[in-house]
Amino acid sequence: MQSSIDYGYPWWLSYGHLVVFFPALGAAALTYGKRRWLFILALTFTIWSAAAFCVMRFVINVNGEPELPTQAFLRSGTGRVLDLGAGTGRSAIMVLKARPQATLVASDQFGDSFDHHFGHTDTPQLPIANNLKAAGVDTRATIATADMRKLPFEPASFDAVVSAYAIDHLNRQGSIQALAEAHRVLKPNGDLLLMLVENDGWARFAFGPALSHGGTRGATWWRDRIRDSGFNLVEEGYKPLTLYLLAHKK
Ligand SMILES: C[S@@+](CC[C@H](N)C(=O)[O-])C[C@H]1O[C@@H](n2cnc3c(N)ncnc32)[C@H](O)[C@@H]1O
Repeated sequence: MQSSIDYGYPWWLSYGHLVVFFPALGAAALTYGKRRWLFILALTFTIWSAAAFCVMRFVINVNGEPELPTQAFLRSGTGRVLDLGAGTGRSAIMVLKARPQATLVASDQFGDSFDHHFGHTDTPQLPIANNLKAAGVDTRATIATADMRKLPFEPASFDAVVSAYAIDHLNRQGSIQALAEAHRVLKPNGDLLLMLVENDGWARFAFGPALSHGGTRGATWWRDRIRDSGFNLVEEGYKPLTLYLLAHKK
């Protein structure tokens, strides 16, 4: 069993720009004082790839610990939380560490989308189980295999629902179904926290147009669907690569 956390996002998300950086640096060194325009081009790529590497590794840091974007989520500090699309446990551990009195059900379909992000394994529940244990929060968590569009949980059985970079993997219809399911399983006044990929300046700088994600659906679409699903939107904001929306079940 592993002793440290490994969220399993692909290496190139954190280190891919170094594949450009080193050759560009070499080209800049070779052309320095000889071929002015090639040198300027190589230097531009060297500076951009170094800066983009820093953005991905230290600002966005997909394999690092995320912070709860708002302290208003589960302000009471206690209760039962459902994580929709928990993956390898990054969002579940974020909540369990920020709310040490809470318990959490980490649910995921553990299907094609999981394989797409983290690679195929015959036991896709194992990485999250290992990470929860490595983070020291496993005694407050259970893992459930579930499609967020049709949840196997009783109505009004959770105090809060979180979904980080997961609900926006569904198409429009799927997202609406998942919001309806989140509403059904939440207790009245329960919190819903959505963290969605936002194609912000950091992402555009690092990836240019290469990043295409549900984030392109836009904040207005999510605000409207959240309200249509029976929630009051109480807070929204931005973190690097992230739009977050906090809502209460009416
Ligand atoms: C990018 S990962 C996010 C994982 C985690 N929340 C995090 O913050 O790192 C998206 C996850 O959503 C899950 N997912 C996609 N569609 C799903 C569905 N219909 N029901 C449940 N989980 C789903 C995938 O299996 C994947 O683990």
